[in-house]
Amino acid sequence: MTITTPDDFAQRWRQPPNFPLDVAFDYTFLPAVDILDHVRRDKEVRFTILGDDDWQVRMDRTAAFRTAPIEEIVTWTFRLVHFDLSRIYDAVLHGFQEEVMIPWRTHLSVRGFTWQRLAPILFLSTEGAASTYHNDNSHGLVWQVHGVKTFHSYLDPGEYLSADEAIMGETTGEDPPEHDEADRHSVTMQPGDQLWSHALTPHWVTTESPLAMSVTLSHGGLSHQGRFSDRELALRAYWDKNPAEAWTHDLRNVRY
Ligand SMILES: [Fe+2]
Repeated sequence: MTITTPDDFAQRWRQPPNFPLDVAFDYTFLPAVDILDHVRRDKEVRFTILGDDDWQVRMDRTAAFRTAPIEEIVTWTFRLVHFDLSRIYDAVLHGFQEEVMIPWRTHLSVRGFTWQRLAPILFLSTEGAASTYHNDNSHGLVWQVHGVKTFHSYLDPGEYLSADEAIMGETTGEDPPEHDEADRHSVTMQPGDQLWSHALTPHWVTTESPLAMSVTLSHGGLSHQGRFSDRELALRAYWDKNPAEAWTHDLRNVRY
């Protein structure tokens, strides 16, 4: 189903499962390979070389990732994330602030949403790469830009991970635990597809094309007419009791 009206969104964002969205941003990205070629050299980039090759091959690739020919890099299995896109707006995301971030913030704002942090995150990966199994503290508007990825979560995440367990980060691992496939909610995303990923629900992402690029608009502390989602309320209650931990997880202990 596609969310085309703001009324639907204002109801559905409150609880899982994840759902497709159709937000028509007027933005054209540079080719993914060109963005990769730039971002791999930025000092804030994080990447992990994956694949079946032996340890030494992965070590050599890790060392050469920023300098080897780009044609070679794209044949390696890796996942890459960049959390501070303001560093690369001028070079490879020209107009992203004006054409994406400001219109989306305005769209939410005029419909009664508030938030405490709303920032884009860039993901690049190659075929065979998978993210970790994890949950985020933030709601994500996942926007598939280039290539194909499958976004896996659960129809009823509560069957696998309570809000409190999510807050304590009890999801994190390289692979998902054993689960009933019928409980899984897997959405294969083609270029242009979008998905709302509910905060504090476990998920993992697999790459299904030679190169894939997506952008997630990450919403921390999202609230509609003063009401947080239920899982976010549990997070707030935890932070009230543990104020030194408030807002630390997203920025210091990022999983992807
Ligand atoms: Fe995530």
